[in-house]
Amino acid sequence: MRCLTAAWSLLSLATAARASPYRDDLVQWNLNTNPNAQSPLDYTTTHPTGNYMPSPGNWREIPFYTILLDKFADGDPSNNDFFGSPYEWDWRETQLRFGGDLKGLVSKLDYLQGMGIKGVFISGTPFLNMLWQADSYSPIDFTLLDPHWGVFDDWRNTINEIHSRGMYFMMDFTVGTMGDMVGFNGHLNESTPFDLNEYDGVWKHPNYMPWNFTQYLDFEIANTRNMSCVMPTFWQDDGTVIDVQYNGCLESDFDQYGDVEAFGVHPDYERQLSKFASVQDRLREWKPGVMAKLQTFACMVITALDIDAIRIDKSTQVTVDALAAWTQAARECAAKVGKKNILITGEVTGGDTFGALYYGRGRTPTQLPPGFLAAANLTADQNQFFLRDAAHNGLDGVAFHYSIYRSLTRFLGMDGNLQDAFDVDTNFVTAWNQIFVNNDFLNPNTGKIDPRHMYGTSNFDVYRWPSLENGTQKSVLATFITSLLLPGIPL
Ligand SMILES: *[C@@H]1O[C@H](CO)[C@@H](O)[C@H](O)[C@H]1NC(C)=O
Ligand SMILES: *[C@@H]1O[C@H](CO)[C@@H](O)[C@H](O)[C@H]1NC(C)=O
Ligand SMILES: *[C@@H]1O[C@H](CO)[C@@H](O)[C@H](O)[C@H]1NC(C)=O
Ligand SMILES: *[C@@H]1O[C@H](CO)[C@@H](O)[C@H](O)[C@H]1NC(C)=O
Ligand SMILES: *[C@@H]1O[C@H](CO)[C@@H](O)[C@H](O)[C@H]1NC(C)=O
Repeated sequence: MRCLTAAWSLLSLATAARASPYRDDLVQWNLNTNPNAQSPLDYTTTHPTGNYMPSPGNWREIPFYTILLDKFADGDPSNNDFFGSPYEWDWRETQLRFGGDLKGLVSKLDYLQGMGIKGVFISGTPFLNMLWQADSYSPIDFTLLDPHWGVFDDWRNTINEIHSRGMYFMMDFTVGTMGDMVGFNGHLNESTPFDLNEYDGVWKHPNYMPWNFTQYLDFEIANTRNMSCVMPTFWQDDGTVIDVQYNGCLESDFDQYGDVEAFGVHPDYERQLSKFASVQDRLREWKPGVMAKLQTFACMVITALDIDAIRIDKSTQVTVDALAAWTQAARECAAKVGKKNILITGEVTGGDTFGALYYGRGRTPTQLPPGFLAAANLTADQNQFFLRDAAHNGLDGVAFHYSIYRSLTRFLGMDGNLQDAFDVDTNFVTAWNQIFVNNDFLNPNTGKIDPRHMYGTSNFDVYRWPSLENGTQKSVLATFITSLLLPGIPL
């Protein structure tokens, strides 16, 4: 109950702050090492040696293994119930923490290496989440590490241990999605219908906040309307632009357009502008001031922790141009520390046509090269085949190829609604021929055609094959297809 009674104490301080106030008690978890920062743009970080792991030349030879850190191995029971609350840790409860952490992961690296794994992906962000949020996809700060997993030095030690085995590390980011602290006036107890006129935002001040945080410290709600704002370009599933009519927009750092359920069919721009599933706040990443902060946070993680690759959760729910601005900044930051071929992938659950807007310099159905051989021959100066200018590269590939996964479920005998609009064929060979033409596969670092989609048979968001009759055999066959047939990276 410590957290319940503590929740209000920093309210006045936090309201005045434009940057997360530096706190001596949080040094072990704070990536920011500048106590005098007046804005997140002043945040700085350090690296103990300044020696970084160079990127591999060929990511396709790096098979990845996905870790749910909280569920994997508990190496330090003392951090399980870190905040001492009843809402945090119970190994018998799937909705609370189990206790897995970085020390546990290090203790299992021999096992992963022994299986031939060359890349470790931790699903979920490293950042502070609510006490019970073990999946770690609802960050409430982008500079503070979650204490349930260890301290700053545990992150460095884990990544060093991975590197010392010749393995690489991919970290998960949400970019524009946070926790659940912003409510819409008049709808605090119910879902808020999507509305382009927006709602006044209010801080909900939930109870049980870790470390006495009462709201996000680096972002602000503002309910004043700017009539001269310019909204970003919005795209539809079929790869065409949709003209959205709006009436100015609020100055807020958050999108205040209502919320949209997690499943079901909604226009992509509504998803991009709304709270996800009513429980994850969405930053207005298309506002330049917000994007500048997000780029700073990405660079701090790369610089402080020597990560080799990035996966972006819900990447197609970031508006297209903002996503490309973020990935390009991350690429430039990585190059500065000698990582010349950082891999940046994203979650793409929709059809291939929509995903294609995000890969590389982007490609619409009107920009396809004329066939497979022409696509294999592409060079960066053939601007007619790209949506964006050179140096505006988005994702290098998708992390978990849902189009292929949907075909796999059919191939292995499942039924149900397994189709998505504007997607590739269910025949794997035909699909590959389509993907190769539809997607920009030029590696911006090397200038070579370099297909780096990550294919998997199962992940943390879909069911487990072994729960079906003959499921283990089905899963093995599917793994053969995703790791040995399709050109790309096994995940
Ligand atoms: C939400 O509902 C609860 C329970 O009915 C009620 O106590 C509370 O006052 C409501 N809050 C708002 C903001 O309407
Ligand atoms: C939170 O606030 C309470 C009450 O002011 C205080 O006793 C406690 O030490 C604070 N906790 C942290 C982690 O700052
Ligand atoms: C309103 O939006 C325009 C265009 O984005 C921007 O240049 C201007 O600074 C904004 N006005 C205020 C008061 O923030
Ligand atoms: C590939 O490029 C070469 C040299 O630029 C050109 O001669 C050839 O016709 C191209 N092939 C296709 C299929 O476009
Ligand atoms: C499972 O495999 C056995 C042996 O091949 C087969 O007889 C059975 O029909 C399979 N069951 C299903 C549901 O595919």
